[in-house]
Amino acid sequence: MSYQTIKTETLGRVGLITLHRPEALNALNAQLIDELGRAARAFDEDDGIGCIVVTGSEKAFAAGADIKEMKDKDYAQVKNEDFITDDWEVLSRLRKPTVAAVAGFALGGGCEIAMMCDILIAADSAKFGQPEIKLGTIPGSGGTQRLTRAVGKAKAMELCLTGRMMDAEEAERAGLVAKVVQADQLLDEAMKTAEAVAGMSLPVAITCKEAVNQAFESTLAEGVHFERRVFHATFALEDRKEGMEAFAAKRKPAWKHR
Ligand code: HXC
Repeated sequence: MSYQTIKTETLGRVGLITLHRPEALNALNAQLIDELGRAARAFDEDDGIGCIVVTGSEKAFAAGADIKEMKDKDYAQVKNEDFITDDWEVLSRLRKPTVAAVAGFALGGGCEIAMMCDILIAADSAKFGQPEIKLGTIPGSGGTQRLTRAVGKAKAMELCLTGRMMDAEEAERAGLVAKVVQADQLLDEAMKTAEAVAGMSLPVAITCKEAVNQAFESTLAEGVHFERRVFHATFALEDRKEGMEAFAAKRKPAWKHR
């Protein structure tokens, strides 16, 4: 498939999507969102892919929704077209694990898209924020919800109400990102993580992702119950048997289902 605002690459079992609108700091216009949605779905459906990495440029992961495209919309329009469209949410609905590799600005919709990914890795240059309030609006693609779940009410409230940016170190301290690396090592580190995940049994990785996500959708008792059920379900897989037998035999597991 050919895209204008993103680039895609298959590297072993990892699908890499690079947001690419350098003239606008990867601002998320309708075309980019459409292309990102199509590329992400294609990797999710590709049997050869076990993990998807989303990244941007050195200067910006994405500086938010495209303000110039959005500025003339009125209430009837955003209501009628249910702006934002479903495509904005695609990354949160993928079954395969995803890694966001963030350098530079991840603002507004850019921060929201990064937060839809399962593992967030940041360059030391990364800057996260929900500056929508400065534009007279509020986050519209999960920012008030995912940021609050990630960093807690106090910091999320402060970030959303002031629109200030948080650097990578603060984001790691607050629990938003899994790790911070030097900017020139960002993609290597993200690929290493993605390759490790893509090297697991795929049905087990998908099950594990579902179980972690359940923590955000249920009470503790319900979540623990869900985990127990899907833990039991892994015993229906040959890969569960293979993993444990390989450990006992001191060899690497040869997964059947990838
Ligand atoms: C459209 C944008 C843009 C955006 C940057 N650009 N962000 N265009 N939408 N979100 C464009 C600029 O207009 C400029 O174009 C070029 O990219 C370079 O940006 P500069 O501002 O010159 O760069 P710099 O001085 O380095 O400042 C970087 C910045 C600033 C701090 C990130 O660009 C900025 O504040 N951007 C807006 C961030 C923001 O408010 N995001 C939230 C959007 S609302 P020209 O043509 O002048 O060179 C949102 C809602 C989501 O995301 C809700 C769900 C839909």
